[in-house]
Amino acid sequence: MTEMIQNTAWPAPVTEPSSLTMRSMPESSEKARAFVAAWFATCGFCTDIVHDARLVGSELVTNAHRHATAPGEPITVRLYLSDYGPVIEVIDPSDRVPVLRDPSDPFAVSGRGLALVAALTRTWGTNPLATGGKVVYAILPGI
Ligand SMILES: Nc1ncnc2c1ncn2[C@@H]1O[C@H](COP(=O)(O)OP(=O)(O)O)[C@@H](O)[C@H]1O
Ligand SMILES: [Mg+2]
Repeated sequence: MTEMIQNTAWPAPVTEPSSLTMRSMPESSEKARAFVAAWFATCGFCTDIVHDARLVGSELVTNAHRHATAPGEPITVRLYLSDYGPVIEVIDPSDRVPVLRDPSDPFAVSGRGLALVAALTRTWGTNPLATGGKVVYAILPGI
């Protein structure tokens, strides 16, 4: 199923997306954590999924802040249900793409965030946007 999803665009929303646009700053990750956790809890997902979703949203927004934006540039989080499960999208204005690093490197002091995202999700990926920038999406288990 993973390959099938990744060969398409990111999964289509079956609910109206809920979105939050922030200026890139160190506090962006905490705002994203609160936004993601509240939405997943409101949708009725179990505590484990709410916690995993918060962590995934946090890693993706931290990446958008650290690797894809200058301070003050926009980062948008979009949340919706799809046929494959609940989706977290993080949109940033950079065309640079995320690169999954080898999480087993014992000497690496960074580079484990996307490995964590991969472990906690059904799948994740990235797509360029016609308007410039990109979306990084992750599909959580559930539904
Ligand atoms: N939103 C993004 N835009 C551009 N590059 C990204 C983005 N997210 C991740 N990357 C790239 O992918 C790498 C791996 O990300 P990650 O596993 O989260 O590790 P870390 O953030 O600790 O470097 C980053 O070092 C960066 O080069
Ligand atoms: Mg990271």
